[in-house]
Amino acid sequence: MDRGFLFGDGVYEMLPVYGKTVLREDEHLARLAGSLNAVDIPNPHDESGWKSLIRDLLDRNDVSDHRSVYIEVTRGVGDRDHLYDSALLTPTVFMLCRPVKARDYSGGVGAITHADIRWDYCHIKALSLLPAVLLKQRASRAGCHEAILLRSGEVTEGASSNVFVVRDGVITTPPKSNDLLPGNTRDLIVELAHRAGMPCREEALPEQVLRDADEIWITSSTMEIAPVVKLDGRNVGTGETGPLWKRMKTLYEEFKQNSAVGNLN
Ligand code: PDD
Repeated sequence: MDRGFLFGDGVYEMLPVYGKTVLREDEHLARLAGSLNAVDIPNPHDESGWKSLIRDLLDRNDVSDHRSVYIEVTRGVGDRDHLYDSALLTPTVFMLCRPVKARDYSGGVGAITHADIRWDYCHIKALSLLPAVLLKQRASRAGCHEAILLRSGEVTEGASSNVFVVRDGVITTPPKSNDLLPGNTRDLIVELAHRAGMPCREEALPEQVLRDADEIWITSSTMEIAPVVKLDGRNVGTGETGPLWKRMKTLYEEFKQNSAVGNLN
């Protein structure tokens, strides 16, 4: 009778782990706190409590490769009643550590475009992922990896990723709003681009800008940065992975290396 099972009444996080290094742990835990707050579920742990649970989970696993730590918090167990009384409920915490399937994205992936059929609170990392499941399945049936979503003529994000477009040397990603998840990989890429002096803007992306792109990237904690080389069956730019993707991928790898070194100290 868990409300996560009955209603999808809960939120989740997915943290990337390399060896024993959790990338952007603080940011992921801050987003978890924000999601919980947004749906009125009391946060069962403070930051240090979450961190020690994560350490414990990693210690019980062989973490020599690229893994993910999945955290799910539901509103708890109760009658099947839409209404809830927080005083009577204890949030359920479920955590899982597992390998991320090694996949080489350097050859690029395909994407379809699709109407954004999700709800109005996409900034919350909510459990109820049925629209995303259907969208990913539609993309897969078209031989593609991702569905890039359009709302009112503008790109919001992918079904399980954020979207970047490169045009004339400028990197653009949609600004944060309730229409998209504030991706931690997204934020890191924006940061890395600014640090490296690469022109990078957080600006609305009209559908035509997506279709005229030189490069399209999709980003997430498990996928990192994947170049999209075909959109709706047509080549993106030259149809090959682009130079700015290669540069950003290198910066990302360097950041990972430095984080791992920082962790040992
Ligand atoms: N998804 N947008 C959506 C809708 C997502 O589901 C995700 C990640 C992202 C990227 O966020 P981040 O860079 O913080 O991982 C953007 C995770 C990986 C998942 O649901 O499996």
